[in-house]
Amino acid sequence: MKVLVIGSGAREHALCRSLSLDPGVTALHCAPGNAGIAEIAETHAIDPLDGAAVAHLAEQLGVGLVVVGPEAPLVAGVADVVRAADIPCFGPSRQAAELEGSKAFAKEVMAAAAVPTARSYVCTTPEEIDEALDAFGAPYVVKDDGLAAGKGVVVTDDIEAARAHARACTGTPSGSEKPEGRVVIEEYLDGPEVSLFAVTDGTTVVPLQPAQDFKRALDGDAGPNTGGMGAYSPLPWADPKLVDDVLQTVLQPTVDEMRRRGTPFSGLLYAGLALTSRGVRVVEFNARFGDPETQVVLARLETPLAGLLLAAAKGTLDELAPLRWNDEAAVTVVVASHNYPGTPRTGDPIDGLAEVANQDGPHAYVLHAGTRQDGAHVVSAGGRVLSVTATGADLVQARVRAYTAIGRIRLDGSQHRTDIAAKAAEAAEAAKAETRV
Ligand code: AMP
Ligand code: GLY
Repeated sequence: MKVLVIGSGAREHALCRSLSLDPGVTALHCAPGNAGIAEIAETHAIDPLDGAAVAHLAEQLGVGLVVVGPEAPLVAGVADVVRAADIPCFGPSRQAAELEGSKAFAKEVMAAAAVPTARSYVCTTPEEIDEALDAFGAPYVVKDDGLAAGKGVVVTDDIEAARAHARACTGTPSGSEKPEGRVVIEEYLDGPEVSLFAVTDGTTVVPLQPAQDFKRALDGDAGPNTGGMGAYSPLPWADPKLVDDVLQTVLQPTVDEMRRRGTPFSGLLYAGLALTSRGVRVVEFNARFGDPETQVVLARLETPLAGLLLAAAKGTLDELAPLRWNDEAAVTVVVASHNYPGTPRTGDPIDGLAEVANQDGPHAYVLHAGTRQDGAHVVSAGGRVLSVTATGADLVQARVRAYTAIGRIRLDGSQHRTDIAAKAAEAAEAAKAETRV
């Protein structure tokens, strides 16, 4: 089968890598792709938000499956246009993607399906904003209703900062009268966060292995929120029943509710969860694979990926054998440009990629995000530039391999976190030492 992947990030590079290892895939295409993806797939320079262009390319290439990576094309309805051309597509419809596209819609679905989440208010006016902030107290959690690439959320103890962000989201600076947008203000959730992905065809739900993402820019979870600075999987500290519990209380009820509404959700349902002192709560839903969690989850998946995604696209997931996983641990560390998550500097040459391939492969490898080929050189072309990914017998070994590989990469002004998976690796070591005593 020929496959076309839509997108250009490290998530899409990870998807392409796994698809290229699937013996059932005879040709791999990606649009638009990046410099790393171009090494394993044929890339095509089209606008990923243009459904007609995507469907036309898929038809021309004769692909048997289109996989849509990012949220923007899904929310723009690209999957609908591809399916209307009779081409199987992995990714939800425009209406179903509203689970990610509108936080207010996601809250409404969760309420209808009795899915546990933070209590919240949807506000449009300065008065509603002030009431909601008072009702919950600090720390304040203020979310732009629409898509914001993980950067529309402010969590702060400072009421003025909370109010300013809320008013910016609604387009109502103090004094202005005309509300334009919506903002979700919600209760603060304590406890560790977990990302759990499920592949679904709208009826059957197949959970993947959980991962943890590091959203803040700096070590020790300091600095602003980003799209994600690193991830690891498995989570040795998590309750072994977590996946089953979340399947029963979150994933299946949400998929059932979407079907009941006549807008079935097929594709990847991403539950961002907080494991609070009062139980699991949904922080957010996304309608696509997470980035960078996909890099570590797919590093552990043994089941051929194309078959899994095609079964979801065709509605035959109930016939699929249980997923197989390797027993390795995986860690990914994001290398970001100077100034990310602000306006990043781009166009800097990246050196050391061949050294990683020669000296650290196959246990460590570089997945490209914002990169492009400039003559003989690969140069930075976005905020998150690379996802350096490694596997190992445990998190300690996977971390060492990932950071060894990062040490070979030279990108002027770049930044990365040095503590990805550090606490989990330490805790797992301590637990091992205890069982030896
Ligand atoms: P979201 O885009 O909704 O995932 O929010 C981005 C990040 O903000 C989350 O991963 C959390 O770290 C943080 N966050 C969002 N909602 C809450 C909440 N209710 N309580 C505490 N932190 C939150
Ligand atoms: N890593 C967070 C996200 O993909 O939304």
